[in-house]
Amino acid sequence: MSKELYTIRLNTIRGNEEIPFDLYVAVGQRLVHYTRARDEMEDDRLRGLKKHGVKKLFIRPEDETAYLKYLELGIESLSNKSVSVEDRAARASSTLIVSVENAERNLDTEVGYESQLRQLEHISGFIGEDRKAIKSMLLASGLSKDTNQHSATVCSLAIAVATKLDGFDKNSLTELAYAALLHDIGKARLKFDYNRPYEELTKDQQRQYQQHPADGVGLLSGKPFISPRILGLIASHEEYGEGRGYPEKKNLFQLDLSYQVISLTNKFDRFCTVKNLQPFQAMDPFFEQHAAFYDENLIATLATILT
Ligand SMILES: [Fe+2]
Ligand SMILES: [Fe+2]
Repeated sequence: MSKELYTIRLNTIRGNEEIPFDLYVAVGQRLVHYTRARDEMEDDRLRGLKKHGVKKLFIRPEDETAYLKYLELGIESLSNKSVSVEDRAARASSTLIVSVENAERNLDTEVGYESQLRQLEHISGFIGEDRKAIKSMLLASGLSKDTNQHSATVCSLAIAVATKLDGFDKNSLTELAYAALLHDIGKARLKFDYNRPYEELTKDQQRQYQQHPADGVGLLSGKPFISPRILGLIASHEEYGEGRGYPEKKNLFQLDLSYQVISLTNKFDRFCTVKNLQPFQAMDPFFEQHAAFYDENLIATLATILT
């Protein structure tokens, strides 16, 4: 596959609307020019690609800025009810994945940071306003197979849980969403397959794995737009129960709600991946194993979202 082109996600492309950049599609090992800049992609063609299992498209590197602007417009129209909630949810979850992919770079500039902030606010609005939004987002993103997908899912689940609880104002919700999006950024340094049950990792791998929250904090602490609160949430996202997590074996019940929400949603999505269960199937076995280690009200809220 050509290294000169950037990968983008099909779900972020909107039907019957002008697309301001050239699009390429992979056919076997070749990349084929699919549409020209300013052409429209008819809805039928878009659905045809989805039906054939196409998930990724490609653009030229010089079109990246145009693509990011186009993404922003798509996110601003999440409240457009003339588009089905399923299509809007697919767009929202793909945009979150793109956001994780670009997170580190976006945090270097005010423009990048603010654009990401606006995306999170629009997605929070969508999840808060439409009861079906989070379920459709989980269905659209499917089982998390990599860290970017996992981070996007933890972010949308954390928003969904927090918007149902009292005690989150706009600012604390956005900080939680941002922390959720970035929480596993320290995993980039791990060079082994960590999507196996923790007990199956070697002692050295477990030690490295336990280091990832601190590695994440290390990567982000020099960035100008990251608040101490976001860093704190990332540092403690693996704390669990009364001192059962790491790195500091904190009592989660004594930490404020944001810490509990990020821990719970992270634990839940990781459970789904390790057990190879879709979120809606994972609910009962997860609750059996983990409900005792979280606040009752929080667990009940997650259950409401998944049923
Ligand atoms: Fe983690
Ligand atoms: Fe995680």
